[in-house]
Amino acid sequence: MRPIKLAPSILTADFGRLADDVRAAEAAGVDLLHLDVMDGRFVPNITFGHQLVEALRKVTSLPFDLHLMVVEPERQVPLFEGIADTINVHIEVSPHINRTLDSIRKLGAKCGVCINPGTPVEAIIESLSDVDQVMVMTINPGWGGQQMIPRQLEKVARIRGLLDGGGYGAGIMIDGGVKAGNAAACAAAGADTLVCGSSVYNAERSVAESVAALRAALRGA
Ligand code: DX5
Ligand code: ZN
Repeated sequence: MRPIKLAPSILTADFGRLADDVRAAEAAGVDLLHLDVMDGRFVPNITFGHQLVEALRKVTSLPFDLHLMVVEPERQVPLFEGIADTINVHIEVSPHINRTLDSIRKLGAKCGVCINPGTPVEAIIESLSDVDQVMVMTINPGWGGQQMIPRQLEKVARIRGLLDGGGYGAGIMIDGGVKAGNAAACAAAGADTLVCGSSVYNAERSVAESVAALRAALRGA
């Protein structure tokens, strides 16, 4: 099986000691950091914006994977110039997706398209050749700590088939409800990268223990 990348989301980290929590993930050997920007409109919650991302940029050398859960994401994209390695926008709020993806590339970042559980795969078919990554939401976005909607893994498998069949190089990221208990199933469905929020930042285990448990699950240990 190909190597699966782990992308902790800081959503359930301790915001009072965020720098320490980010360093702990880096020390645990994760591959990238997933940053959930919410605007209180596309999703009910508000999290943080480019200023916090800029501050974290000074704390870690992990690549930053930005998940824009905002309406009119094209207005936010320029704010993340030079601080985000990948910028992902939701298809549900991107009527001019090609223009938005172009604007991300012009900043020198990779681009991704995100798709909600209730949105059919057809909505992103025209974008598959243009993106570096497809982010399949396996929960309805807005909160960490939700249960994965298992049927979304069928969507992942279908997108994997479309990418492979078309010869497109985009990766697939799964976001929502990833745990040690379902990580192998996510990989088997065709994911390349797993966002891990509450399965990395939780009260039960240290970040290092949580990351080790996810890696072990992916090895089939
Ligand atoms: C939710 C965010 C997710 C979230 C995942 O809207 O997009 O990235 O942090 O958290 P878990 O892994 O706990 O579902
Ligand atoms: Zn996310």
